[in-house]
Amino acid sequence: MRRKVTVVGGGFVGSTTAQRIHDADLADVVLTDILEGVPVGKALDMAESAPILGANALAVGISTVAGDYQETADSDIVVVTAGFPRKPGMSRDDLLKANYDVIKAVVGAIVKLSPEAILIIVTNPLDAMAQAAFRASGFPKQRVIGMAGILDSARMSTFVARELGVSVENIHSFVLGGHGDDMVPLPRYSTVAGIPITELIPKEKLEAIIKRTRQGGAEIVNLLKTGSAYYAPSAAVVEMVEAILKDKKKILPCAVYLEGEYGINGLFVGVPVKLGAKGVERIIEIQLTPDEKTALDKSAASVRELVKVIGV
Ligand code: LAC
Repeated sequence: MRRKVTVVGGGFVGSTTAQRIHDADLADVVLTDILEGVPVGKALDMAESAPILGANALAVGISTVAGDYQETADSDIVVVTAGFPRKPGMSRDDLLKANYDVIKAVVGAIVKLSPEAILIIVTNPLDAMAQAAFRASGFPKQRVIGMAGILDSARMSTFVARELGVSVENIHSFVLGGHGDDMVPLPRYSTVAGIPITELIPKEKLEAIIKRTRQGGAEIVNLLKTGSAYYAPSAAVVEMVEAILKDKKKILPCAVYLEGEYGINGLFVGVPVKLGAKGVERIIEIQLTPDEKTALDKSAASVRELVKVIGV
């Protein structure tokens, strides 16, 4: 059976995500954007790479400027990247209201045509937009998931690997909380070939890695000047897409709707979950030290402020 993934938003994150899914033959891809020619052109360009790559996945691009999402019908997964990107000096939260309007419009249209889809939200501010999509969709919480923890953990792993001069494949980093400046990297649960990094990296170096991880998105924005990161964000989305399509039951950090887990209620926050064909199949709760719990609560409070502003 052919699988179908719609990617909403044909900017760098969206088109790179579509490309990765298409090139890996994971599913047919529909790329949408409100621009007229761009999604059509990018998908056609992708399709024309298929004979060279040997990919059998179809790539189709559509403009949704007239509000027509018909081509997306019956998607297994819908990845929402649409929205305004960060500019230098802007926080993710500055994007709040503008992107809330985008999410409402997009999700409203999408869920009518793909009522069984799993939504992966990428638009910033991530956790609040995932919550907005959850409300706008009326979907069960298992089928609305925010991408962020994988990206933040990957950034931490990159810095740890560079610090120690070892393979990134040996590193497993653990980042909890919202995808914002208060995210909570957990060194105690971050390991190199099973060894906690706290045993391998001196405290000051570790502090610097944690700080750089928290500011990882801004670091890229400041370098690119005209937009935000997309290689690592798209790779993170594709790890989620693959876990779902292949029913991998993979434990990954994702933003999900908490109802009492970690003492947090009625809020999207990043925690480790099991991803499979049904979406979020389990939320994993781990023991936190009082300091870690305080940091997580602070991060959740930042998300809660945003959610209150838009009333979702
Ligand atoms: C980042 C943006 C996408 O972290 O939030 O790069």
